[in-house]
Amino acid sequence: MSISTVPFNDLSRSVADIRADIDAAIARVVSSGWFVLGPEHNAFEAELAQYVGVRHAVNVGNGTDALELALAALGVTNGSIVLTVANAGAYTSTATRLLGAEPVFVDIDPSTMLMSAETLHAALAACAEPPTAIVVTHLYGALAPMAEICAVAREAGIPVLEDCAQSLGATVDGVKGGSLADIATTSFYPTKNLGGLGDGGAVLTNRDDLADSVRRMRQYGWASKYNIEYAHGRNSRMDELQAAILRVKLPLLDAGNQRRRDIHTAYESAAQSRVTFVNTANESFIGHLAVVTAENRDEVRAQLTAAGVTTDVHYPIPDFLQKFPDFSPRAMPVEATLWASEHILSLPMFPELTDAEVEQVVRALEALS
Ligand SMILES: Cc1ncc(COP(=O)(O)O)c(C=O)c1O
Repeated sequence: MSISTVPFNDLSRSVADIRADIDAAIARVVSSGWFVLGPEHNAFEAELAQYVGVRHAVNVGNGTDALELALAALGVTNGSIVLTVANAGAYTSTATRLLGAEPVFVDIDPSTMLMSAETLHAALAACAEPPTAIVVTHLYGALAPMAEICAVAREAGIPVLEDCAQSLGATVDGVKGGSLADIATTSFYPTKNLGGLGDGGAVLTNRDDLADSVRRMRQYGWASKYNIEYAHGRNSRMDELQAAILRVKLPLLDAGNQRRRDIHTAYESAAQSRVTFVNTANESFIGHLAVVTAENRDEVRAQLTAAGVTTDVHYPIPDFLQKFPDFSPRAMPVEATLWASEHILSLPMFPELTDAEVEQVVRALEALS
């Protein structure tokens, strides 16, 4: 008898139940005749800002643009240094390079896979020139220890950016990630917990000056129509269709995050000793990915595949080992980052997994030998 396969993700399921609402949102935009920077866009910015608990949400074209424009707003420019982690898919490194700046890498805490106050402290001590900004990635959906990190950054006088692309909705003591530092960014790439039906991103901040700066940059650096007064202008706008679709999905985000936590709890309950979960389900973790570490990752992966469980690795290549471009020639302490890249494994995780599929993953974990 052939076993069924649990997919790693299935985006068609994410729209099936809300198809009528999405179709209505699209029809509304098509009938309106307003397609860019219109009422849906402005309403989504207001709703997102309220959800995160910040004064401003500024929509942009995607999450990498959000990082680039937020860094530019913080003063990162040609020759600047940006401190960040190297295990998060190179999005921050890419944005940093686009500004002519240099990413310099902070190691991760191997128990969380995140930056910590200790690893930041060590990187600051090892970095010869003062960095212009620090980017904290809330990887896999788990918030990094922001109070401690921000205390170290404050002492060094360096602003902090939270990358919430994987963590939208996670809270600490009831306060949302994205409101815990100077500025934050997110992505609405379709696989994100709040994903659109295409590309999108946003910058979040309580600071009027930073929000104003990003608003100018996303539309050619205009002070007013056709009147360019601001540096680093470009076109990075979200369209009305995407905003209208995200307005349908935002009110469903918390329920989706809870379903992800419940799936994660079921996985954690599997009685086995071959893998260790990086996260546990709690308010500071929204289950973007269910990641384990295993001593013999490739062997565990092969056994899960044989049991019909699809897996992936987030991410297999640390930024500083990417062949092109060379993100950082500097010798920084990155042992934990290297170890993680060889031992992490991501299990299927999306809210529409059926109970039977979750059970199949649990049984496959328990059968690991
Ligand atoms: C942590 C993180 N930051 C930034 C991005 C970049 O977002 P985008 O793909 O919308 O450019 C992603 C995902 O793609 C991400 O996972």
